[in-house]
Amino acid sequence: MNILILNGPNLNLLGRRQPEIYGPHSFDDFFLGLKAAFPHVHLEYFQSNHEGALLDKLHESGFDADGIVLNAGAFTHTSVALADAVAAIRTPVVEVHISNVHAREPFRHQSYLAASCEGSIVGLGLEGYRLAVEWLVRRGKISEKIEGKED
Ligand code: DQA
Repeated sequence: MNILILNGPNLNLLGRRQPEIYGPHSFDDFFLGLKAAFPHVHLEYFQSNHEGALLDKLHESGFDADGIVLNAGAFTHTSVALADAVAAIRTPVVEVHISNVHAREPFRHQSYLAASCEGSIVGLGLEGYRLAVEWLVRRGKISEKIEGKED
């Protein structure tokens, strides 16, 4: 099973950026623990501050990967292009936000992506990524059963 974790702008600064909102851990450290927690899953991590690079990655993985965990950062609230890409691909996408965007400024309450994502996890810190991966793994097993691919 292949799952892509895709982080958008400023998320390269996790651990240093407003730790009172986003926590004290870098994503790289968290990702090591995540890989250890899911040894049978091939987890890929990609981060970019550039909208086009995120679009390219969605196009590249969005027909082959089994799941995508997407935190598009501020592009969540602005990008019709990313929303179109999420709608265009076949791979299920789970939207994650570290902070509770609904408890923050009004401009963060709207997500252009949510309607095309399978679901959203917000406000649970980095734990949200782990829960999203767990769901995608379970979802994959359920689809296999439905398709009769179980051993
Ligand atoms: C964020 C929330 C966004 O509003 C913000 O622009 C981010 C991070 C989150 O994970 O809480 O960059 O996506």
